[in-house]
Order: sequence, then structure tokens, then C-alpha cells
Amino acid sequence: MELFAAIDTRSSAGRLTDPGPSAEQLGRLLHAAARAPDHGRIKPWRLIVLKDAVREAFTAAAALAKRARLPDMTAEQLAGERDKMNRSPAIVVIGCAVNRGQSKVPEIEQVVAAGAAAQNLFLAAHDLGYGVMWKTGAAAYDPAVKSTLGLKPDDHIVAIMHLGTRLK
Ligand SMILES: Cc1cc2nc3c(=O)[nH]c(=O)nc-3n(C[C@H](O)[C@H](O)[C@H](O)COP(=O)(O)O)c2cc1C
Repeated sequence: MELFAAIDTRSSAGRLTDPGPSAEQLGRLLHAAARAPDHGRIKPWRLIVLKDAVREAFTAAAALAKRARLPDMTAEQLAGERDKMNRSPAIVVIGCAVNRGQSKVPEIEQVVAAGAAAQNLFLAAHDLGYGVMWKTGAAAYDPAVKSTLGLKPDDHIVAIMHLGTRLK
């Protein structure tokens, strides 16, 4: 797909199903993400493919983060919330581990670089024919969720990118 066509036809998927990207395709997507412009070449982004135990821990913590915002959620709704996330064929989280020590690059520029990486990944996944949903929500701001990915409380989650075959 030509770049302008990819940009023009990109939109968020409403529902995703299997199959998601293969391991080889995920590798290509991560490579595309890491080609983002980056002031100071500090690569502040963290590109995390959620798998196995990390995915379990992340989805459990994300559901709890939602309940913290909506305390009336029942146990059933909590489980439903977790299931919803578990149904996505693939999830890549784009974080920003802000370098506040050696680097003089302002935090906002590091976060913007991570956002550019997220958009690269979105367009690349679209180019491969996959549907994408870029989400954040309460989970993205929750220290317990961040810690399941090895991020610190003052690091950022800029995208929880759901990938799969588009149903709508
Ligand atoms: C940083 C960021 C966070 C977002 N978080 C959410 C979210 O949590 N839930 C959601 O439904 N849409 C979220 N969106 C918006 C959608 O991903 C989508 O871009 C928007 O609804 C516009 O639709 P389109 O992508 O089809 O143009 C977010 C977008 C960005 C850039």
C-alpha cells in the first residue's frame, strides 16, 4: 500500500477476531515502530508484546484499574472486562520510560517520540491488512498496571494497541 493510501484509509476497528499478526509480522511491526523520530536517539519507547504470564497480569491489573474508577462493578463485570481484553488476538503496549537522568531531552519530547512509534505501528499493521484499536483508559495511568510491564509509576503508557482481523 502506498503511504498516502495507508494514511487515508486508516481507521479504528470496532471489533477484532483471529487471526492476529504472526510472530514474524509482529517483529516487522516492532521494527516499524522503532523507526520513529527520536530527539537525542534515546529510544524512550518500550514496545511490549503481551504474552502468557505478562498478558495475564496486565489484563487482571487493567480490570482492577477500571473497577477503581467504577467501584460498583460486580465480580461478573470485572471478569467480563478481563475477558474483553483477553479476546484481542494480539496486544502491543507502547510505553515511554522517560530518561530523566543523563538526557536533557524534555519529557514531552520523549512521550511524543513514543506516540510517533505507536502511530508507525498502527499504520504498519494497517498496511499488513490488520485491524487496530488504540486504547488507553484508566489502565494506562495506573501504577500497578505499569508495574506488570516493568514500567515505573512516573513512566507512561501511550498506547494499548489491540491487533487482529477486523470484524467491523
Ligand atoms: C493517545 C490515544 C488514546 C486513546 N484512547 C482511547 C481509549 O481508551 N478508548 C477509545 O475508545 N479510543 C481511544 N482512542 C481513540 C481511538 O483510538 C480512535 O483513534 C478515535 O476513536 C478516532 O477513530 P479513528 O481512529 O477511526 O479515526 C485513543 C487515541 C489516542 C491517540
